[in-house]
Amino acid sequence: MAIQCATKFRFSGRRDKADAITIPKFYFDKFKFFADMGYTPRPDQMEVHRDTSDIRVLACGTRWGKSKLSAMEALSAAISAFDRSFGWVVAPTYTLAEKVFREILFIARRNLGKGIVEASDSKMKLRFRNLGGYISEIHGKTAENPDNLLGEGLDWLIVDEAARVKRTVWEAYLSQRLIDKNGWALLDSTPKGKNWFHEIYLRGLDPLEKGRVKSFSYPTANNPLVKKDLLDVARMELPEDVYRQEYLAAFLESGGLVFRGIDRCIAGELREGKLYTTYVVGVDLAKYKDFTVIVVLDSRGQLVAFDRFNQIDWAVQKARIRMISKRYNNASILIDSTGVGDPIYEDLARESLPIAPYTFTEVSKKTLIDNLIMAIENRQITFPRIDVLINELEAFSYEMTDAGRLKRGAPQGYHDDCVIALALAAFQLSKRVDMTYATTLSDLESIRGL
Ligand SMILES: Nc1ncnc2c1ncn2[C@@H]1O[C@H](COP(=O)(O)OP(=O)(O)OP(=O)(O)O)[C@@H](O)[C@H]1O
Ligand SMILES: [Mg+2]
Repeated sequence: MAIQCATKFRFSGRRDKADAITIPKFYFDKFKFFADMGYTPRPDQMEVHRDTSDIRVLACGTRWGKSKLSAMEALSAAISAFDRSFGWVVAPTYTLAEKVFREILFIARRNLGKGIVEASDSKMKLRFRNLGGYISEIHGKTAENPDNLLGEGLDWLIVDEAARVKRTVWEAYLSQRLIDKNGWALLDSTPKGKNWFHEIYLRGLDPLEKGRVKSFSYPTANNPLVKKDLLDVARMELPEDVYRQEYLAAFLESGGLVFRGIDRCIAGELREGKLYTTYVVGVDLAKYKDFTVIVVLDSRGQLVAFDRFNQIDWAVQKARIRMISKRYNNASILIDSTGVGDPIYEDLARESLPIAPYTFTEVSKKTLIDNLIMAIENRQITFPRIDVLINELEAFSYEMTDAGRLKRGAPQGYHDDCVIALALAAFQLSKRVDMTYATTLSDLESIRGL
């Protein structure tokens, strides 16, 4: 539908001068196009859509409508082109990239009909005929593996949840793709500390950057679809700075929000087991798509061994757990025995390994994480600079469920296996024994002679 009536649109969008000169016959009215796609931007969203800076930086609260705005920008850029056009929508994880891309595909399939040449969910690829009769391509990309981000020059680039993308990925890969064709970028995100996204946001506030970088910031409350009582619950239940970051889009000092003082805990090296030293092991088993992580702490709380692998073959998992416990003086093991972990725990226990199960419920998981929060805050544990572990600890955050309850955990598309394994090891070291868990802990206590 939009394709047929597209020529009626008056041009009022991006890069107007250039296009008006080269293709004077066609006009594209971005907002008319949005209306045809069933999207009515709010006034704050409109400000972002209207801006034509080379880089737009959008720092907003969660659920403000960042991804929706980005999806619509992608489609309008692609359809309004009068030449072959190529743009990427990038997100920090595959899951997040897929989510934005799904929205783009949904709108395209519903509205662009015969204009579509290729639309693939799995390849995150959309090709359709634009106003100039040429092919526009939109590709969805994850920033997890930078090799994915090599390739040709882009006419435009959107990075969703940009603050979670690594600085090197932006600097060495993404921004480079824009040079050849003088393309534009839209970086949207909820802030995550004072990282590169914060730096570019500050540039966009500087009037001297006019035309090059422009920044915008809006709170969650601007979206009338987010109910006021949900916001009230979040304000009451969340620590104040978490609320300020997630809902008011404040840039806080860097570092984790759930685990504070991570940097102070980075110390020491991995090392082999020493005689006459007691060690404890925490194990988080691989489930669907996850990693198995095994963490060993010595009695002073120093992390001395770390193993992470993604073979979900049970025999392999058992062998590695067995081996590591042996290497560290038959260290006692606390293992996540929820669901799939149960038989593995039982097999290892039958072999008389010093092992105890930890079954996750909402409450038991909270206890485990609370204990790790305290251990990190009080520097009762230390660990070498293991990037994957530190990233998981920093990314661990608060999330509002659809039912309006607050939950702590890895953000969508992130893993928490390292955090859980570390928490299980740290739990063994702590002397705090909560009677609520007496049943789960009884085996462990008898093993350790508590
Ligand atoms: N102008 C609009 N008109 C109608 N619905 C909108 C508009 N803007 C946003 N929404 C809706 O608001 C909800 C939140 O939008 P979206 O997912 O884009 O927000 P977000 O800021 O990316 O959130 P998150 O922080 O979860 O990634 C979605 O249901 C989206 O469809
Ligand atoms: Mg989003």
